[in-house]
Amino acid sequence: MKILPRTNFTGEFSIPGDKSITHRAIMFNAVAEGEADITGALLGEDCLSTAACMRALGATVETDGDRIHICGAETLRDASLDCGNSGTTMRLLMGLAAGRGVHVRLTGDASLSSRPMERVAAPLRLLGADIATEGGRAPVEVRPARLQGCRVETKVASAQVKSALILAALGAEGETVVCEPLLSRDHTERMLAAMGARIRADGCEVHVRKSGLRAADVRVPADISSAAYFMALGALRGETLCRNVGVNPTRAGILRVFKAMNVQFSLENERTVCGEPVADIRVKKSPLRAVSFGREWMPSLIDELPVIALLCAFAEGESVITGAEELRVKESDRIATTAEMIAALGGDCTATADGFVIRGKRALEGGNVRSHKDHRIAMSGAVGLAASARGGEIEDVECVNISFPRFYDLLG
Ligand code: S3P
Repeated sequence: MKILPRTNFTGEFSIPGDKSITHRAIMFNAVAEGEADITGALLGEDCLSTAACMRALGATVETDGDRIHICGAETLRDASLDCGNSGTTMRLLMGLAAGRGVHVRLTGDASLSSRPMERVAAPLRLLGADIATEGGRAPVEVRPARLQGCRVETKVASAQVKSALILAALGAEGETVVCEPLLSRDHTERMLAAMGARIRADGCEVHVRKSGLRAADVRVPADISSAAYFMALGALRGETLCRNVGVNPTRAGILRVFKAMNVQFSLENERTVCGEPVADIRVKKSPLRAVSFGREWMPSLIDELPVIALLCAFAEGESVITGAEELRVKESDRIATTAEMIAALGGDCTATADGFVIRGKRALEGGNVRSHKDHRIAMSGAVGLAASARGGEIEDVECVNISFPRFYDLLG
């Protein structure tokens, strides 16, 4: 796809629904008692993988536009499940299957089959789960076993690992305490509490007891990870307004970065919808300055790092990002692919073991970008090209369907 430069991007954007919240709304309602409607859902490929898996397990999941109607299954049936490209689907299903005593085999595409699964399997085994991975990766097999609650300390601050443990704990005897090194996104805790689970969050600890779930309607806010591309265009080239964006503090770290980079932005109409903080985000063209941050900020902005690094390439001064080694095990090795994308645009970005050193040039020339079939690299590259001097081309563009099917239409 060819992207030509533009000097002004001004507009109002309806960003698609939050991917993390949509996955959870489908999965949790599919095992709850009763029926629920999910509105504003993201129907990207990852969430469709979750929907297909829950159907295969016995739930009714019907899609109609951005609405999903779900009728939960009382008991799940054994199944072989294709999780596609979706780490959230595979990892959360490992915990769900273990907690519900079903026998499942989980597979995924080439990217997902290369990603680490022992980070979920090993702590689940502490509860008594019977799980086998193949050399630490998919295919993953979960067999029925009796679970006993205990205290589990996770090694990585990962909402996928934490959520898998919480889902397993809903079926374990006694209390389970999940403790993570830094607080990761907490959509699971919020949604399960609203569905009647016995769950209590206390800082980086979550206490869970065996519980059933009641179906609950969910209105999904727009995904800040998707809004980030249009927020970045506003900061670089005009003024953008993204409506109805989820600004849960465990997700909104990009706003902290914006403050540090001198980006002019405001949150309007702040409100709470279905237990999640939501706002309209307005971002105005700003002279960007370099920023440095590390591990503590990572969980709240991990998916936005490619586009944040891109903004650093357009800033004045040297930015240093550390503590981001989790990027190495995303849909691509995002330390390598982000650095390559910025270099392809004419920027100066050095990949380090756990992050980036980016020497901002204030303007980028443009060039040809490879997405490596990673949706977030494709979209960050498109933003970089649109704001560059000459534009250029991106290879393998269809991967945006994973999280943002209408991305190029909206950019157009
Ligand atoms: C997600 C958690 C994060 C994030 C991913 C979605 C989730 O992954 O990168 O896009 O929905 O729980 P980790 O849990 O591996 O940090």
